[in-house]
Amino acid sequence: MNKQNNIETFHISTYGCQMNLADSSTLVSTLITRGYRRVKEEDQADLLIFNTCSIREKAEQRVYGRLGEVYKYKQKNPNLKIAVVGCMAQRMGDELIRKVPHVDYVLGTDRLFELPDVIEGLEGTSSVMTAFGHENMDFITPVKETPFSGFITISRGCDNFCSYCIVPFVRGKVQSHSVDYILESVRKLVDEGVVEITLLGQNVNSYKYEDTDFSRLLELVAQNTDIQRIRFMTSHPMDISRRLVDVIGAEEKVMPHIHLPVQSGSNRVLKDMGRFYTIDQYHKMIDYIRLKNDYISLSTDIIVGYPSETGEEFEMTLDVVRKVRYDTAFMFKYSSRPGTRSAEFTDSVPEDEKSDRLIRLIKLQQSIGYEQNQREIGQIKYSLVEGFSKRSKDKLRARTEGNKTVLIPVTEKIEPGQFVPIKINAADAFTLHGEIVEVS
Ligand code: 5AD
Ligand code: SF4
Repeated sequence: MNKQNNIETFHISTYGCQMNLADSSTLVSTLITRGYRRVKEEDQADLLIFNTCSIREKAEQRVYGRLGEVYKYKQKNPNLKIAVVGCMAQRMGDELIRKVPHVDYVLGTDRLFELPDVIEGLEGTSSVMTAFGHENMDFITPVKETPFSGFITISRGCDNFCSYCIVPFVRGKVQSHSVDYILESVRKLVDEGVVEITLLGQNVNSYKYEDTDFSRLLELVAQNTDIQRIRFMTSHPMDISRRLVDVIGAEEKVMPHIHLPVQSGSNRVLKDMGRFYTIDQYHKMIDYIRLKNDYISLSTDIIVGYPSETGEEFEMTLDVVRKVRYDTAFMFKYSSRPGTRSAEFTDSVPEDEKSDRLIRLIKLQQSIGYEQNQREIGQIKYSLVEGFSKRSKDKLRARTEGNKTVLIPVTEKIEPGQFVPIKINAADAFTLHGEIVEVS
């Protein structure tokens, strides 16, 4: 036990994107190295950590709800400390403690790795820290997410300032990690048994370190490390290059999946959002991606009910979905975020209209996702076994090259972390079903 702070154990809850998951894993590893023990139950912990997300109001409300619930533990154990870290901490700063006085520490997106120093009261630390900026971020050590897969953040922050988005405010200016750092991180994870990595950035296509852009980085990781599979996200349609598409086609280790958020099907809305592409340009890129790849899985993000989005503009979004035929989509109702450009506009689409649009969009995407998945029936997909199905212990869950979940019957011979050839026998809108086959 750390004598100064009476903290022996901690519990962490993570909200939001994969970048937060990656940050939480690194924070967990740092805390363990410093002698703290992770526990599974909140009521066993001396320190409760919430790594938070601000992307939509709902994400923040969820954290407020949880903070209210954990007050009871503090009443039982006055030594219990509560730390809110990440995006919401960055956005709210001191105000968070004013709103929720039982929160002890608030550490923003660039300061959360200092949590061990803060709880030990080291010189130069304080309970609220939200300053941006590290000369060099390469001190952040990626750690694996599972025994065989890992995330590596290649760039932090975003300079795009899409009108609706809080990310540039809470994650700060874009900073790319050095090529050496990324290669060394991949090699370190490979040495620890990792076979698949995901390179993460708000906009990976804007990655730039000295002369290396993202497509070159992908080649370097593929050619100069022993990693077996490489994934990446998120690609911005404004910055995705034909060369990147060529590299995906040419490098076997780079998986055939692109997440390319379209956000809206209306050029007027896209312009207002500050996305810097037209739907025509978007379709041209999709055509090129399909031309260069016999098989490619496509996913997207879409916002419905953006301020002033008309019914006709929403129909244009449905048209894009029909035309592109995404494998999966993440679909959201617009949520006004304080401080963003679009928060100045009236949130003009009524809530029930937003809900109607979202339901129509989800229904359409589900039927297309179902049809896309039917096309995989009969094919053999080399998939990474990840563990048991979340619903049944009779099935193993694996991930295809195209990032789809495939369920197979449990067999004794197969362990998580193995690649196996799976013949797809059936499919629904979200999941494939198959069996392991021998391949000559
Ligand atoms: N409201 C709704 N969805 C949003 N996103 C980002 N900001 C907002 C917002 N204010 C969505 C975008 C983005 C994804 C990560 O979250 O679709 O691509
Ligand atoms: Fe937000 Fe746009 Fe940056 Fe994505 S590219 S994080 S949507 S500002």
